[in-house]
Amino acid sequence: MQFFTPWIKSLRSNVGYPTLKSAKARSVGYPTFMRGRMNALDAWSNRAHLNKVGADVIAIANQKGGEGKTTTSINLAHGLSLAGKRTLLVDMDPQGNSSGIFTDIDSLTKTVADLFTKKYTAQEIIVSTRYEKLDILPAKISLAEVELSTLNVDAPYVMRDALESVKDKYDAVVIDCPPSLSIFTINALGSAGFVVIPLQAEKFSIDGIKGLQGTIEGIKRRINPELKILGALITQLKSNTVLTKTILPVIQNYFPVFNTSISTGVAVGESHLSRRSLLDYNSGVKQAKEYMAFVKEVLDGIKK
Ligand SMILES: Nc1ncnc2c1ncn2[C@@H]1O[C@H](COP(=O)(O)OP(=O)(O)OP(=O)(O)O)[C@@H](O)[C@H]1O
Ligand SMILES: [Mg+2]
Repeated sequence: MQFFTPWIKSLRSNVGYPTLKSAKARSVGYPTFMRGRMNALDAWSNRAHLNKVGADVIAIANQKGGEGKTTTSINLAHGLSLAGKRTLLVDMDPQGNSSGIFTDIDSLTKTVADLFTKKYTAQEIIVSTRYEKLDILPAKISLAEVELSTLNVDAPYVMRDALESVKDKYDAVVIDCPPSLSIFTINALGSAGFVVIPLQAEKFSIDGIKGLQGTIEGIKRRINPELKILGALITQLKSNTVLTKTILPVIQNYFPVFNTSISTGVAVGESHLSRRSLLDYNSGVKQAKEYMAFVKEVLDGIKK
């Protein structure tokens, strides 16, 4: 990682080694959007105050597909580890895209699905990656099969409990969410201290923004009062277009927006094909530099 040294040094100067912090004890109800699905969900409200939420747990969420969640998760997680933080990347998406970058998905015998079925503990499932200080709690398609069978009273808190059990081993956790408001996204937002929302500056991307804001507010009210919106990250930006100028103010009406945005570039897809983070694949390309600037903004944001 020699090419990264100056950047790492500048980051390390403002990075401590915080541990996961506690949430205030509060009792909240179950999410409005799940009402009516199961009477057992009434009992969710009784669990909300029992667990602690990690302040340095960052969920990367947007229920719309293809907005850059996985690309952002991979590079944020790697960037935080390069900055000296012991980092855990959690894949909450049955597509297993971020797991495929760091592991051989086909040979995985333990995945995040086993947390929901209580077959293995987080510690037993976590695997190390080729990058120092970066581990992954991987997922694959089997995660999709557990959802219906696990909607019991503990369902929204599986990830929170899992992260509690490994909190002493990590300074930061990044959770890659699926493109849906499933029990997995609820788990991610329920255990996170912060949420980052990647989205494109496109009409279809902002069409769902009000719903997304409502979802996050619902989670804050009902499950995780500690959740803070760190910001929206504009991804796949085609620079200086009228669209950008028009759409940015709309996004700012709903969420704070990171100063950094991520431009479109072929190196992103290439890094995925080579199963490396972009920061590793080619730290000199524009998008890698943008992701580095984004990591710095995140570090500043979670310190506040
Ligand atoms: N900055 C970028 N430049 C070029 N291509 C990008 C960029 N960011 C993401 N992509 C591409 O866009 C596609 C979607 O990105 P990604 O998988 O990160 O989004 P996602 O929100 O995780 O998708 P999903 O909702 O399916 O999980 C991928 O093919 C990825 O390679
Ligand atoms: Mg994804």
